[in-house]
Amino acid sequence: MAPGRTQGLHNGRVNEPLVLGIETSCDETGVGIVRGNTLLADAVASSVEEHARFGGVVPEVASRAHLEAMVPTIERACETAGITLSDVDAIAVTNGPGLAGALLVGVAAAKALAIGLGKPIYGVNHLASHVAVDQLEHGPLPEPCLAMLVSGGHSSLLRVEDVTAGVDPMGSTIDDAAGEAFDKVARLLGLPFPGGPHIDRVAREGDSVYVDFPRGLTSRRDLERHRFDFSFSGLKTAVARWVEARERSGEPVPVADVAASFQEAVCDVLTRKAIDAAATEGIDDILIGGGVAANSRLRAMAEERAAAKGIRVRVPRPGLCTDNGAMVAALGSEMVSRGRTPSPLDLPADSSLPVTSVLA
Ligand code: KG4
Ligand code: ZN
Repeated sequence: MAPGRTQGLHNGRVNEPLVLGIETSCDETGVGIVRGNTLLADAVASSVEEHARFGGVVPEVASRAHLEAMVPTIERACETAGITLSDVDAIAVTNGPGLAGALLVGVAAAKALAIGLGKPIYGVNHLASHVAVDQLEHGPLPEPCLAMLVSGGHSSLLRVEDVTAGVDPMGSTIDDAAGEAFDKVARLLGLPFPGGPHIDRVAREGDSVYVDFPRGLTSRRDLERHRFDFSFSGLKTAVARWVEARERSGEPVPVADVAASFQEAVCDVLTRKAIDAAATEGIDDILIGGGVAANSRLRAMAEERAAAKGIRVRVPRPGLCTDNGAMVAALGSEMVSRGRTPSPLDLPADSSLPVTSVLA
């Protein structure tokens, strides 16, 4: 188990709901505590190092790690926030989508807390939480906004009117998710798992126009059917072929240049389509969330291109982009504030919960 991190902020507001959020959909055990839109604690224990040698998250290993980390992470979050569990007004928990066994650990823990404390439970959608988290940093979400969610499991463009009511999918990946492409290409280049942060780092030293990699679903014909959809598997194959050809020739692979050229291709398509979707809907605010939103090139390119069109971009700080409990607490807090009905205590964990279903 990697050493956990905890982050705390305090302020004196007392009349807003105190919500504890639990996230266990993948390999991060996250427990966040918020009061209204104020982040009080964000404790995360990651099992990523246990998966690294397999090159991807192993579901059974993740579930077991959640079991071991759950109680200490709850305790750490409470300590940082300076609260006791009896102070909490509501419990929020990711009940999908994600790994079934991993989700079950969080949902079971949340139910135990809700029953023990006699407080309501809100089962919330992991993807909507990636959107809601931004309100902890930049205040209430613009309504409507265009959300681009880019993570290891998802790449979607969503029209969001009220994040507690539902989101309207405009497009998504038809094959690999953006983060998955980063992870697979990193592996091809001999970089560790998860690959996104390593590609981001080595690409800074590379030439982003060294190889002109393909931009998936951007040809005129593809745009007719897939205007707001993404495809990254062709790009991944193109990188693999390029690397193989270079290795066969006996010349060294210029890792930084290939990483930078690959990253440029991903960011180019993501930003182009997000801005096109916002402009088409007449939306002035784009919100980027999910682990890939931590990418420095994506953040810079999105801001530059959107500004040229008079569109604002909001991206949470990198630590809030990757999976965490604060995002779940943020969405839970919004549910409480808007008077949404809590979930039933027999709330299921749903590994394939659709993005349109925000509240269980
Ligand atoms: O949202 P997240 O933490 O978990 C999922 O719900 O999937 O996203 C994890 C993904 C991984 O594929 C990881 O490589 C990618 O986010 N990622 C990045 C960066 N940091 C994390 N990708 C590109 N650049 C980064 N800086
Ligand atoms: Zn995620």
